[in-house]
Amino acid sequence: MIAKRHHAAMLALAGALTLTACGSSEEPPVEQIVVREPGEAAPAAPVADAGADLVAAGQAAFAVCSACHSVEAGGGSGVGPNLNGVVGRAAGTLEGFGYSEAMAASGIVWDETELDAFLENPTAKVPGTSMSAGAVADDERRAAIIAYLASLGA
Ligand code: HEC
Repeated sequence: MIAKRHHAAMLALAGALTLTACGSSEEPPVEQIVVREPGEAAPAAPVADAGADLVAAGQAAFAVCSACHSVEAGGGSGVGPNLNGVVGRAAGTLEGFGYSEAMAASGIVWDETELDAFLENPTAKVPGTSMSAGAVADDERRAAIIAYLASLGA
């Protein structure tokens, strides 16, 4: 976790340095090439707090989840349950959402480790879950999404 955060910070720093170098070069702006992965957050200004970078990256990566999940405090559920305050919550317990029996009976309490396993492979972690999409293969992307979720709610 610490190593990943450092890595994210280094990437952000590298991005900022690249921008600075481009801005001060003699090349006209039209020659600048910015390579960015789809869904990746725009390079942020260097921030001392790598945790803030991670949360921002997670918020951007959460785009693939928001088709089914709302994160507003007190907001309703969509295809999936509202995820505000999900870190620390017992799985399958949000009032008013129709969970699968598998999720309701899983006995999981969502922490970073459990979320990481679930998001990497939902049907392996909770066989019979009705979350049929949304697996995230990339380790760092999952870590960022989880940091974002942890930043929301109570
Ligand atoms: C296609 C719709 C869909 C997408 C996309 C999706 N989910 Fe889900 N999610 C669900 C459904 C449906 C459930 C309820 C599963 C069950 O009851 O078995 C769920 C359950 C969950 C839960 C358990 C919540 C609880 O209250 O126990 C978490 C955490 C979660 N999703 C996170 C995510 C994240 C993070 C993403 C994006 C990386 C994502 N989901 C993408 C539909 C989706």
